[in-house]
Amino acid sequence: MSHLLNSAAEESLLSRGFSRRQLGRIASVFAAGAALPFYNEAAYAQRAMRRNEMSPDAVRINSNENPLGPCQDALEAIYSVAKFGGRYSPHNENGQMAEMAASTEGVKPENITVYAGSSDPLHYVVCAFCSPTRPFVMADPGYESGASTARFIGAKAIHVPLRKDFSHDVQAMVKADATPGVIYICNPNNPTGTLTSSEDIDWVVANMPKGTVLLLDEAYIHFSHNAKMRSDLVNAGKDVIILRTFSKVYGMAGIRAGFAMARPDLLEKTRTFAATGFVPITAMAAATASLKSKTVVAERRKINKDIRDNVFEFLQAKGYKFTPSEANHFMVDVRRPGGQVVDALAKQNVMIGRLWPAWPNSVRVSIGTQDDMNKFKAAFAKVMA
Ligand SMILES: Cc1ncc(COP(=O)(O)O)c(C=O)c1O
Repeated sequence: MSHLLNSAAEESLLSRGFSRRQLGRIASVFAAGAALPFYNEAAYAQRAMRRNEMSPDAVRINSNENPLGPCQDALEAIYSVAKFGGRYSPHNENGQMAEMAASTEGVKPENITVYAGSSDPLHYVVCAFCSPTRPFVMADPGYESGASTARFIGAKAIHVPLRKDFSHDVQAMVKADATPGVIYICNPNNPTGTLTSSEDIDWVVANMPKGTVLLLDEAYIHFSHNAKMRSDLVNAGKDVIILRTFSKVYGMAGIRAGFAMARPDLLEKTRTFAATGFVPITAMAAATASLKSKTVVAERRKINKDIRDNVFEFLQAKGYKFTPSEANHFMVDVRRPGGQVVDALAKQNVMIGRLWPAWPNSVRVSIGTQDDMNKFKAAFAKVMA
């Protein structure tokens, strides 16, 4: 069975204590296109729809998407490159994107691997660094995609509650196991939208055991006014892998682009588990054009914040507790089993996000357009009355 994995992946798994039987199980997934057990936000949203049908005019604030879609420069880049789509790499789109990403982040091109979004590298990092003796450690509530991969490959996933201020409890995370494979910090965190300080992140890097990798998922960082991007850790040669996606501020969830940023040896180990590594040239051209834009991030950060502030004012006036999010989503305490509110809002044609068992009375809401949020507010007031 395991002959379905490439020899580097097989060697990597065997050297880290996986049994032949586990290899067969992992191989069968890769053979199936790594589809079934590897979840991402869209899959979670789909599953969380419960019995709720989504009509075409529904308010879709359930998967942390960006209703603005790709920026104008990205759309033009897609249009211009599409006619060259008969070639695998008409103008070295991959190299161009890696160069642009490197100069934006202040790292070298060899510190970048381009992917079709950040879900894939997230899964691959877990495959490359977790094992039966090296668990995946994450926050609770947190973005659980890596944990599902860890469990699937036969590694333990350890969930450490967020601190009272909704930051990652880095001391508890490092202490959670003697030999973690991956410590995962999502900053800002999904689903709370809350921040973990740079001091805390530095503390993890200084105190995690040798052989552990810090996976820093900065999917939502462009929306934050206070979070600091940490490519400096890559330049310092630390055991840190940073994930970037174009699905959030850049509005390209359906176009699919992202990258992993790290020391070349860490990138190579990760890439061992990538099926082909191909990314569509349209996605890469759009990502490169987005990075070249001098205005898109600041504009969208402001739009998102203004709309988020408006919803927060509404919730505050009504006396609801919510997480102090700096992202395009937040958790609100609805003081009853969250599923009841998800279902009741769906009946009002407003689809909100999902539930986390750790916080059964809270639901996640994504920030849509102001019009979306006006509809959310009206439906929420009605449902909660
Ligand atoms: C924290 C986090 N990381 C990664 C992803 C993966 O996104 P994508 O594969 O679209 O880049 C998501 C999606 O919602 C996310 O919330």
